[in-house]
Amino acid sequence: MIELTNVNKSYNGKVKAVENLNLSISDGQIFGLLGPNGAGKTTTIKMITGILNCDSGAIKINGIDIKQNAIEAKKQFGFVPDSPDMFLRLKGLEYLNFISDIYGVNSEDRIKRIDEFSKRFELTNALGDKIQSYSHGMRQKIVLMGALIHEPNVWILDEPMTGLDPKASFELKEMMREHAVSGKTVLFSTHVLEVAEKICDKVAIINKGKVLFCGTLDEMREHFKVNESLENMFLEMTENE
Ligand SMILES: Nc1ncnc2c1ncn2[C@@H]1O[C@H](COP(=O)(O)OP(=O)(O)O)[C@@H](O)[C@H]1O
Ligand SMILES: [Mg+2]
Repeated sequence: MIELTNVNKSYNGKVKAVENLNLSISDGQIFGLLGPNGAGKTTTIKMITGILNCDSGAIKINGIDIKQNAIEAKKQFGFVPDSPDMFLRLKGLEYLNFISDIYGVNSEDRIKRIDEFSKRFELTNALGDKIQSYSHGMRQKIVLMGALIHEPNVWILDEPMTGLDPKASFELKEMMREHAVSGKTVLFSTHVLEVAEKICDKVAIINKGKVLFCGTLDEMREHFKVNESLENMFLEMTENE
């Protein structure tokens, strides 16, 4: 469960990246944050994950305030940033062990999870290589594995399908669904509407830092009183701004 109340953020005191944002992301849902480039998706996710402080407002993850109780709040989630280019000098396995150490995952669990994830993502043979030598998609996969290795309750993924091959993208979508079905929370951002249309239980459409719509896809169709594609509704909303 993630709750944002009256959240504001501007850069350098001028560019208003997020304006009076209110969102409630419930357990058991795949929640899609949709919007064109520059809409404020990454800024929102960086505030939820405590990488950026909001200028005003409050953000809680499973009821824990990210500013006031940052470490406890951070234990609740696994986060995949939009760029997977990190810890390039570590080997894949070293990276996963490093993250496991930070989150206190015992050796039995980590061995089991690394084995399962690397099979699902077809990365087993690359675990002994440096991340530097990985393709963008492989880096994306190793960061995903690191984010999920402590079995976080809440998943927060910024544009997670970017660069994944069809098999990995399929596996990730399956995993997101399994996680939501088990009663936990999945928040992800995307500008790819086909992905959102297929897997989201609920979407928030944002543009220029403001929420234009928040609800299920059915509610969105109801709102437009037509059986339009998400693409048409999205274009209509963001162009009217
Ligand atoms: N570090 C930064 N400094 C100044 N402006 C920024 C910075 N990061 C993002 N912005 C601006 O904030 C707005 C929202 O950006 P962002 O959150 O990255 O959008 P999205 O992820 O939806 O593409 C854009 O106008 C962007 O140019
Ligand atoms: Mg972004």
